Amino acid sequence: MSEHSAEAPPLAVVGGGVIGLSVAWRAAVAGFGVTVFDPAPGRGASWVAGGMLAPVAEAWPGEEDVLRLGEESLRRWPGFADDLCAEGADPGLSGAGTVVAGADRADVEQLSVLARYLGSLGREVSVLGGRELRRTQPGLGSSLSGGLLVPGDLAVDNRRLLDALIDAASRRGVRFVPAPVTTVSRTEVRTGDSVAEFAHVVLAAGAWSCGLHPELADRVRPLKGEILRLRARRGSLPPPRRTVRAVVEGRPCYLVPRADGELVLGATQYEAGFDSTVTARGVRELLENAERVFPAIAEYELVETAAGLRAASADNLPYIGALTDGVLAATGHHRNGLLLAPVTADAVVALLTGAEPPAPAVAAHPDRTRETQEESA
Ligand code: GLY
Repeated sequence: MSEHSAEAPPLAVVGGGVIGLSVAWRAAVAGFGVTVFDPAPGRGASWVAGGMLAPVAEAWPGEEDVLRLGEESLRRWPGFADDLCAEGADPGLSGAGTVVAGADRADVEQLSVLARYLGSLGREVSVLGGRELRRTQPGLGSSLSGGLLVPGDLAVDNRRLLDALIDAASRRGVRFVPAPVTTVSRTEVRTGDSVAEFAHVVLAAGAWSCGLHPELADRVRPLKGEILRLRARRGSLPPPRRTVRAVVEGRPCYLVPRADGELVLGATQYEAGFDSTVTARGVRELLENAERVFPAIAEYELVETAAGLRAASADNLPYIGALTDGVLAATGHHRNGLLLAPVTADAVVALLTGAEPPAPAVAAHPDRTRETQEESA
């Protein structure tokens, strides 16, 4: 199956989204002979993502394990990006921070809960009134009631990142097989009538993981998200410099600027199975909310509409670790695939080489919900 050197332990990575590609690249650097199975590597949900690396701005009480894992990954992001740059592949990391805006008083009250929670965890966050908010980020809507400034968050250009990972992985000898996978086991990957043998198999197929392994059937589900890509026209206000997250009458939205002048506006969140059609309602909802947050976008060119399927888990933590038959799961990253790519890749490589995974990744072991499932069966 493989043209890798005889000493390189053969590793299959099923899924070529941001998680699979990050695992593949890091594992190839660690000496594995890696084959990625994906009919369209670098597409899927990762291609549609906003690219916010925002564990603090997206934190919520009760999700401390998600926050710890996200912060660990955020700490690893600059090194991960530098390593990609050293391979000649720049992922477009931005450190401009995040402002979070609340449209009405109830939204601002929701943000105060978040600010108090983050303060109690010792996280840096400043509460802003409406005027301070607009001074901090010019162009925000005059009706916004207030918000927060979260200086430590990063953002990445998801599409540059995916191209960078494919380049870096290819340069490290990773092979790409475009065939759709039908089943996986600890050492085998089946595509149609062919079966290929490996020393290890990593399942990183995002929302599709539920159909590839019985243990994930009830634990990973697709969660649809629609985004829009817009571009300022001549004479219109330029996009915000920072990531802007907002709560508009209880509904979240975000605006993430790209270095090339595009602005990604996201994202809806629906339980719609594997339907990835962009709907008129989704587009209207995003534009209505975003116009209240950053009114200038009404004059922007609408460049693209797209929908992706996040891989959701019941507790919003991913599954990183061995399933009972030894397949290594790296899936279920919910809203946080791009953020969690570095820590997931490092955890998987640690598990493959018998090293200690990063401490916050232990909470993401698939065993955590297996017991609950068995009790309720
Ligand atoms: N991480 C943003 C989203 O999933 O919409």
